Amino acid sequence: MDKPVVGIDAMAFAGPECFVEMAALADARGVDPNKYIKGIGQRQMAVATPCEDTVTLAAEAGRKALEAFGIDPAEIGTLVVGTETGVDHSKPSAVYVHELLGLPARCRTFETKHACYGAMAGLTAAMDWILSGRAKGRKALIIASDIARYGVNTPGEPTQGAGAVAMVISENPRLLALDADLSGDFTKQVMDFWRPLYSKYAQVDGHYSIDCYLEALEGCLDHASEQLSEDANQGKPFQIGELDACLYHVPFTKMAKKAHHRHRETELGDRVSREDPRMADILGSYGAKVSPFLSLNERVGNIYTGSVFLAMIDFLRQLGPEHAGQRLSLFSYGSGSGAALMFAEVVQGAGDWSATLDPTAELDARRALSIADYEALCAASEEADLNNSEMADPARWGLGSGLFYTGTVDHQRRYARIG
Ligand code: HMG
Repeated sequence: MDKPVVGIDAMAFAGPECFVEMAALADARGVDPNKYIKGIGQRQMAVATPCEDTVTLAAEAGRKALEAFGIDPAEIGTLVVGTETGVDHSKPSAVYVHELLGLPARCRTFETKHACYGAMAGLTAAMDWILSGRAKGRKALIIASDIARYGVNTPGEPTQGAGAVAMVISENPRLLALDADLSGDFTKQVMDFWRPLYSKYAQVDGHYSIDCYLEALEGCLDHASEQLSEDANQGKPFQIGELDACLYHVPFTKMAKKAHHRHRETELGDRVSREDPRMADILGSYGAKVSPFLSLNERVGNIYTGSVFLAMIDFLRQLGPEHAGQRLSLFSYGSGSGAALMFAEVVQGAGDWSATLDPTAELDARRALSIADYEALCAASEEADLNNSEMADPARWGLGSGLFYTGTVDHQRRYARIG
């Protein structure tokens, strides 16, 4: 019996109300703005106020995905929130989101943590749940939600960000069909990036983390290419030349360029230096298959688990009817480390949803912060989770309508929709 077609049926992005211009941040840090804008590849950075947390961002993304694609919450049988910036050592953020979205009690609900790989782990678990037959027609809601904090005046500061991407996984999806037969996995214990229990800020060995990411990409490519020799997968489009888009985890957009370079080198079995004539081909395919889908990441920054899926929204919002059947690769890397490579195909009719998926108007409507205001928000966020903290007051930060974290009282987190 043929396997059912399983994939992404609905998607949406939600981000905080405020952002910082990278040029302004560079000025304040006494750095050439070109380092942040060209060298790292970031134009803006989303900044969460103390009233926007992993739960509010996740619930907003989930609400938008369900509403925009006309999905009844009663159809959801699995909810996974992938995050490395959870709000409790024990209670999963997914349970708050479950209540805020009005999901049914008969729903598997859990949080996944593996640095930036958490949501990809949720996605593959959802696919397996449906393929096993246990879903019985129900859908899975997978939400990637994170706030990346390295701290003021650190090398990681220009690679911060915040936001959430929600995806509904189902049979006969309306956007992308996931390839259930071809994938690559990689795990290796490394200390490239981690966040000790006592800290809101990540510890990172920045340059080493880039090497770890690239090693994991090679590992996933090797694993997937071995499966191509199996009969069932013969003839599957796999090489960059056969793919229409290559989406990578995007901690900063220059990283996707480095990843694409290594992807091609792995295919060639050789290193390609800047002077090598094959470099022109690599840059050409980067310009056609990677960089057109990085403009949202450039404006939001690193959203950890969601960042590869934000690039996916960028890809989907540019689709027209002629793009049905296009094939893409999807690489997720989580520090520490774990990674996965998957493949997907654009389904007929996906282009009808491009305008619905486009978050540009929402990004345009954000409020630009001065560097002094951004630093004040960072300081306030350090206290916002304390019991009876006054920092989680939406009025204090000029927040209008929306879903907000309003503080911890009696050691319990409170959420409220205002306006
Ligand atoms: P840095 O040391 O400050 O920067 O930190 P740099 O000196 O390496 O410069 C960065 C780039 O800017 C270089 O380009 C420079 O040449 C260029 P490259 O050689 O890499 O192509 N540059 C300029 N370009 C134009 N004009 C100029 C100029 N000056 C310099 N004037 C670093 C950079 C990314 C290491 C730092 O920001 C950091 O530690 N970030 C956090 C770690 C990170 O994002 N790692 C990525 C891989 S690990 C990962 O993706 C997982 C993660 O998302 C976490 C998770 O899994 O949960 C992080």
